[in-house]
Amino acid sequence: MINTVLDQASGLRKMSQNNNHGVKVIAVTGGKGGVGKTNVSLNTAIALGQQGNRVLVLDADLGLANCDVMLGLRVEKNLSHVLSGECELDEILVEGPAGIKIVPATSGSQSMVELTPAEHAGLIRAFSELNTEFDILIVDTAAGISDMVLSFSRAAQDVMVVVCDEPTSITDAYALIKVLSREHGVYKFKIVANMVRSLREGQELFAKLSKVTDRFLDVALELVATVPFDENMRKSSRRQKTIVELFPNSPAAVAFRGLASKAVKWPIPHQPSGHLEFFIEQLVNG
Ligand SMILES: Nc1ncnc2c1ncn2[C@@H]1O[C@H](COP(=O)(O)OP(=O)(O)OP(=O)(O)O)[C@@H](O)[C@H]1O
Ligand SMILES: [Mg+2]
Repeated sequence: MINTVLDQASGLRKMSQNNNHGVKVIAVTGGKGGVGKTNVSLNTAIALGQQGNRVLVLDADLGLANCDVMLGLRVEKNLSHVLSGECELDEILVEGPAGIKIVPATSGSQSMVELTPAEHAGLIRAFSELNTEFDILIVDTAAGISDMVLSFSRAAQDVMVVVCDEPTSITDAYALIKVLSREHGVYKFKIVANMVRSLREGQELFAKLSKVTDRFLDVALELVATVPFDENMRKSSRRQKTIVELFPNSPAAVAFRGLASKAVKWPIPHQPSGHLEFFIEQLVNG
C-alpha cells in the first residue's frame, strides 16, 4: 500500500516534468451502436492532426470495428500489457495518419474501472511517464451505458454525443445524458448530428433532443457539428482509411475539419485538472 502511494506520488511528480501543459480530453459517446462514434473520433483526430495538433486517441471500444482495424493498422500490444508491466505505454502507441497516435486499449480496458490500487498507480504512472507530449486526447467509447462508458465520460473535460435522426438513437442519447447528469455530475454535452441529409435536418434533430432534455433534465446541450450522410464514408471504411484523408473535399470531411477547428478552441482547465494523469486518476478513482 505504501509502495502504491509512493508510486502515485512519483508518477504525479513526473507529470509536472513531462506533460506540464494542459491536455484537452474529449470523450466521444452516443449510447446507441453504429451511430458513427469511431468515425467521428478518428476523423476529428486526423483533422486535428492535419491542423498541427498532437493528438492521442484512446480506443476504449471493445467491439470489432475498433480504431486500429478502421485504420488498417497492425497492433501487437495493448494497455493490458502495460498494466501487467510487460512494456511501457510508449511502446504500445500506434501511429496513424497525420501523426496521430493511438492507444490500443482492447480487452485490457474492460477492467480499467475495477483496477487494484497497484494497477491504478501503474496506469497513472504509465501516462505520466509518456515521452511524447499531446495537446488533445480523444476517447472513442463503446456503445451502451456501461460503467466504462460512464467513467470515461465523467473523467473527460468535454463529452461529445453522436446522434442520428432515428428514434432509437435519440432515446439512447437521452438515456445516456440522463444518467451522466443525474448520477455523474456531467451537465454539458456537445452534440454531433451525424448522417443527416441537410444542415436543417441536423438542427431539427438537435431540437428534438433538446426538447426532451430541456423538459426533464438540468443540462446544457450545444450543437457542435452537423455531419452529412456521405457515401464516401463507406468507401473510405472499405479501404481502411478515413474520409478526411481519402476524400478531403467531400461534405462529411469538411464537417469534420470544422469540428476540429472548433474543438481546439474549447477551453482547457487549469492545472492540474488539465493533465492527462488527472484524467486517468479521475477514471480509475471515480
Ligand atoms: N456521416 C456518415 N455518412 C455515411 N455513413 C456513415 C457516416 N457516419 C458513419 N457512417 C457509417 O456508419 C457505420 C458505423 O460507424 P461507426 O463504426 O463509426 O459507428 P460506432 O458508433 O463507432 O459503432 P459501434 O457502436 O459499433 O462502435 C460505418 O459503416 C460508417 O461508415
Ligand atoms: Mg465504434
